Amino acid sequence: MTRLLVTGGAGFIGANFVRSALERGYDVDVLDALTYAGNTANLEGLDAELHIGDIGDEALVDTLTRRVDTVVHFAAESHNDNSLTDPSPFVRTNVNGTFTLLEASRRHDTRFHHVSTDEVFGDLALDDPNRFTEDTPYNPSSPYSATKAASDHLVRAWVRSFGLRATISNCSNNYGPFQHVEKFIPRQITNLLDGRVPKLYGTGEQVRDWIHVDDHNAAVLTILERGRIGETYNIGADNDHVSNKQVIELICELMGADGYEHVADRPGHDLRYAMDSSKLRRELGWEPQFTDTDSGMREGLEQTIRWYRDNESWWRPQKDAVEQAYAERGQ
Ligand code: NAD
Ligand code: DAU
Repeated sequence: MTRLLVTGGAGFIGANFVRSALERGYDVDVLDALTYAGNTANLEGLDAELHIGDIGDEALVDTLTRRVDTVVHFAAESHNDNSLTDPSPFVRTNVNGTFTLLEASRRHDTRFHHVSTDEVFGDLALDDPNRFTEDTPYNPSSPYSATKAASDHLVRAWVRSFGLRATISNCSNNYGPFQHVEKFIPRQITNLLDGRVPKLYGTGEQVRDWIHVDDHNAAVLTILERGRIGETYNIGADNDHVSNKQVIELICELMGADGYEHVADRPGHDLRYAMDSSKLRRELGWEPQFTDTDSGMREGLEQTIRWYRDNESWWRPQKDAVEQAYAERGQ
């Protein structure tokens, strides 16, 4: 039996991961600071031990790292728009926090998996036929993506300099249950459930390579079990042709609504992300289960819409404050 320490396990992807890891037979400790993005309700009914604390707390991190076989590192400040308002927690958590975890893992020779993002590669033109591969040079745009890029570099340096047994995954945009209402898809779904108008930044021509959170987490488990130490794996579900405008229109269609409004664009807004995940598919045999726009995203979105409809008590407490903050920025 392998014991995992899942950092950020009370957040969106982390909590879904804890569920999948428990189902797969792992023992799970969670370390989470319960920032605005963490929620104990995400772990309700799950047989995981929650330790409330900061990944920058050296003593706590040392104690927890010592008792597990593997650290799976999800904890981060994760929202681009917030990083434009105040980058400081992004540097603290994403860079310094990752450093603290790496040092503890080095001391105890703990296997480490670092969860990162496609945003470290920057963006592509809409008509660029290329996708990001594991060898694409880093070119992050926002304080969020710059701090994630920094953390990826730290992990690679710890592998090379200290022989840390680590892997990295870079994944595209996730959607699914338990995602905070500040993010694009849950924001629009809950806007419609709340009688508000969906909000599209700028023209909405931007493209995100959407993947269902369960597909992302299945890939992380695959890398934990079969990935080669020191390697990086891109994760994506080949949705790099779907614009934000198309996503919002699909949400409106699925929810029987007919209108959305264009609001102020995000400064420095990345245009297009596109992941080449062929290395992960070829070497480790992973395949996404929710695939292509017509069936995959439709099916995944229907499931996600149902979840937000059925779980209003989960998202309701955050909704007004999130919308107030967006309104102050003209969004
Ligand atoms: P999230 O914001 O929903 O959750 C982050 C979690 O980390 C929260 O539970 C929060 O309380 C916790 N946390 C924050 N700072 C902490 C600290 N200092 N110490 C301990 N815990 C802390 O984020 P998410 O969307 O679930 O993303 C999880 C990871 O996946 C991040 O590393 C992110 O960069 C990466 N990622 C996200 C996406 C996406 O589409 N959301 C895509 C690719 C990669
Ligand atoms: O690509 C992976 C990244 O995806 C992760 O690393 C980040 O943690 C995650 O937050 C996400 O980043 P994005 O900035 O792409 O996601 P967000 O949900 O904020 O926005 C998705 C797109 O939708 C983006 O082009 C901005 C746009 N948008 C967003 C909001 C909140 C809107 O048009 N309207 C909105 O109301």
